[in-house]
Amino acid sequence: MSARRFSSMKPDLSSESLRLRAHELIPGGCHTYAKGDDQFPEGAPPFIVRGSGCHVWDADGREFIEYGMGLRAVTLGHAFGPVIDAARRALADGINFTRPAPIEVDCAETLLRLVPSAEMVKFCKDGSHAVDGAVRLARAHTGRDMIAICADHPFFSTSDWFIGSTDMSAGIPESTRRQVVKFRYHDLPSLEALFREHPGKIACVVMEPARTEEPRPGYLAEVKALAHAHGALLVFDEMITGFRWHLRGAQHLYGVTPDLSTFGKALANGFSVSALCGRRDIMRLGGSDHDRERVFLLSTTHGAETHELAAAIATMQFYEAHPVVETLHVRGARLRQGYAQAAARHRLTGYVDLVGRDCNLLFTTRDTDKKPSQPFRTLFMQEMIRGGVIAPSFVVSYSHSEEDVDRTVEAADQAFAVYARALSDGVEKFLQGRSVKPVFRKFA
Ligand SMILES: Cc1ncc(COP(=O)(O)O)c(C=O)c1O
Repeated sequence: MSARRFSSMKPDLSSESLRLRAHELIPGGCHTYAKGDDQFPEGAPPFIVRGSGCHVWDADGREFIEYGMGLRAVTLGHAFGPVIDAARRALADGINFTRPAPIEVDCAETLLRLVPSAEMVKFCKDGSHAVDGAVRLARAHTGRDMIAICADHPFFSTSDWFIGSTDMSAGIPESTRRQVVKFRYHDLPSLEALFREHPGKIACVVMEPARTEEPRPGYLAEVKALAHAHGALLVFDEMITGFRWHLRGAQHLYGVTPDLSTFGKALANGFSVSALCGRRDIMRLGGSDHDRERVFLLSTTHGAETHELAAAIATMQFYEAHPVVETLHVRGARLRQGYAQAAARHRLTGYVDLVGRDCNLLFTTRDTDKKPSQPFRTLFMQEMIRGGVIAPSFVVSYSHSEEDVDRTVEAADQAFAVYARALSDGVEKFLQGRSVKPVFRKFA
């Protein structure tokens, strides 16, 4: 890719007319809030037509380096040969029959081999369904209704039980909203307080093993012990950490085995496959070989389409055979170092830092008072796009080369020059449109 800077931030007419049509036809203009117009600066490419590795092309033919591809699902790269070849081969034999396909067993064996703590697995299409399945199993297993979720982890499911706990809870009954209570990460007393306030009521604790902070030694084990002491299950949502922190999951890296865990995103390099796995005695409630009440667990028309499971197997096999997780960390570390040096050159340390693990970097954008700022986030993304980089985060894939990372640092360096001027002269002077907004907000 040429490191050209885009003089015009306005997409040309084909992109713009497509964008207007999308808003006429689709609420919010697209099918995933995190991809919506309000998450990106004006002038960001409204549509991406194709991708190869970590590069993408918009509807106007402009090329960009992309980060956080497919909401972190595309870990290997767009149109990644071994994965699409496997999916294509499966497609040719038909994808959905009246009885299960053998590949369902192959895929289960592949995942269970990688995640040793998991004794059984059920596949589904998206992460939300997997976490919903964990919650339903926990409720059935414990005979309790309430769920304790980590307040510092932004997303667990699109279902009522979770969305009811956000600022966008319209349409969700109060009775459902009352079932979810929140504790803080690294704050064991806040979880103890929930168990004290709701004795015998909490079915499970749902959390990501880690997000931007590394767990302090012993913390996750203490959460597990506390949950078990109160008769609740521990559910690790490994949608992001799975196959990114470690091939065997963050649970392996941190040495704490949850009762149930959920995987998705990185599982199939962007194909729609997620998984709920865990202890056999709990998972089997979804089957028929027991005398307890049966649990309706993850059963959908499109549940185990063969081409998607083929993609999942090919992705997991690629992870096993190549240093994917290591490469994500190495590339992220290079980016973190170059970025920090560029920020320091512009005296922006403390305003534009990278946070999180090297394999999953997020950026801060702070204003003159060092408070998190959506207008400064918008400005930074706007200038990165001008430099040829789409970066709602700096989450790398296996396809980000050293050269891609270095070009990104160059683009950041130029963006920082504008950022520094905006800190002294006012951000509005430099913004070419409205600010981005958080997804979870009550009103438009
Ligand atoms: C930690 C976590 N859990 C669950 C989900 C839900 O996954 P999906 O969007 O595939 O339903 C997400 C999605 O962003 C997530 O980040």
